[in-house]
Amino acid sequence: PPATPQYRPAYHFTPTAHWMNDPNGMVYYQGTYHLFFQYYPQGMVWGPMHWGHATSPDMVRWQEQPIALAPDSLGYIFSGSAVVDADNTAGFGKNALVAIFTHHSPEEEKKGQNKHQYQSLAYSLDAGKTWTKYAGNPVLPNPGIVDFRDPKVSWNEPAKQWVMTLATKDRITFYSSPNLKEWTKLSEFGEKLGAHGGVWECPDLFPLMLNGKTYWVLIVNLNPGGPNGGSATQYFVGQFDGKTFTPLNANTKWADYGPDEYAGVTWNNTGNRRLFLGWMSNWEYANQVPTSPWRSATTIPRELGLRQVGSEIYLTSQPVSELRTLAGKATTLQNITVKAPTDLTARLNSTTDKHRLTLSTKQLNDFELVLGNVAGEELIVGYDKAAKQYFIDRSKAGKNNFSPKFTGRATAPRLSTAAGTELTLYLDAASVELFADQGLTVMTSIFFASKPLTSIKLRSAQGSTWQQLSNTPLVAKPAS
Ligand code: FRU
Repeated sequence: PPATPQYRPAYHFTPTAHWMNDPNGMVYYQGTYHLFFQYYPQGMVWGPMHWGHATSPDMVRWQEQPIALAPDSLGYIFSGSAVVDADNTAGFGKNALVAIFTHHSPEEEKKGQNKHQYQSLAYSLDAGKTWTKYAGNPVLPNPGIVDFRDPKVSWNEPAKQWVMTLATKDRITFYSSPNLKEWTKLSEFGEKLGAHGGVWECPDLFPLMLNGKTYWVLIVNLNPGGPNGGSATQYFVGQFDGKTFTPLNANTKWADYGPDEYAGVTWNNTGNRRLFLGWMSNWEYANQVPTSPWRSATTIPRELGLRQVGSEIYLTSQPVSELRTLAGKATTLQNITVKAPTDLTARLNSTTDKHRLTLSTKQLNDFELVLGNVAGEELIVGYDKAAKQYFIDRSKAGKNNFSPKFTGRATAPRLSTAAGTELTLYLDAASVELFADQGLTVMTSIFFASKPLTSIKLRSAQGSTWQQLSNTPLVAKPAS
């Protein structure tokens, strides 16, 4: 297919060419953010999986690196994580980077014994440049569970051991190890809790503080069964005592309600910051999206927190502060009241499809923010006050006939009970990410407009007043 440079984002990572899915092995090491990813370097659709690799000083300027891990006699290289083995528990070397990933064997799969996915190790002694697979692989063989994958490993300081969070079909299984090589089963979670419209994949487990108290968040990606169809990221808030995860309640919650954030997990080794990034697509149509010569981007990195609303504790996601370093000159309008459609393109100095829009109001009413182009295409981001829902409508935002599953309008509940709000939108050629109510409701959506969406209109059936509207072009300079 002809190249589509118009869909190439400026500040989201994309591989130069070929297929990408999940982010893998995210770890901060000696001043560099590492991002590995599910990668098929021979094609534009999913195939024998490798770990691609990219590095960044700030998570917003990425440099693609040579492939880190390629398939071998044990199988394809599926998703997993990476740790810094500061105390050399595994014996590969002090401060070795160790990747813990799933080997997926198509040959074993043909035998039909449900034992074709198992966990393996690789290590790097040169800061992630080159990797050696451990000769004793696999380190966690499969007991006969058809989906047995995506290990997320981190050091559990109270228990002084490694804890692996593993997706095991319809539940999470926790394992522990003193040395990354020998694993003991600790417990299972979730068979009857949360959303189960599909298989559980790509989990994560980490602590976060709220009002001086530590909670544990368990992320469980789900495919299909997401709130707007297909793949999505659910989470549980609870406690983890080093052995067992106990949720605060049984309510299903979503880290991102939009159709296009999946397999999101967090970086290891980032101190008190908890930094999240996902794959910006959906298994329902990822293999058909009209980009070339690459397929898929990551989301922007997001800093996670917790917030209490009523008696519920929710995860919040906010764009990382590093994104501010991309900001060009902002244009800001104050105290704007709209009812009839109002074209703000000139007043907001809108000229690019790579920008950030922020809107704040003391009273959130119905509104539609319409991002348009010369071809008459429109992407609409808005709020439906009666339904108490944010929405993103891409049904008229360009190409959508590549898959019947590329749905038009996605909705998300407003969880905040405040009268006013602040909304932040990140636009980058072919994607929009909405952060509402300081990251309490998040939606990510991709779209394929035939011309850049640079015009901005605002309308509001009820009438709405905005204390501030701001448009900031975003420019990514290459990684130094
Ligand atoms: C999630 C996933 C993982 C698996 C990988 C294979 O998108 O299905 O469960 O490890 O992708 O590419």
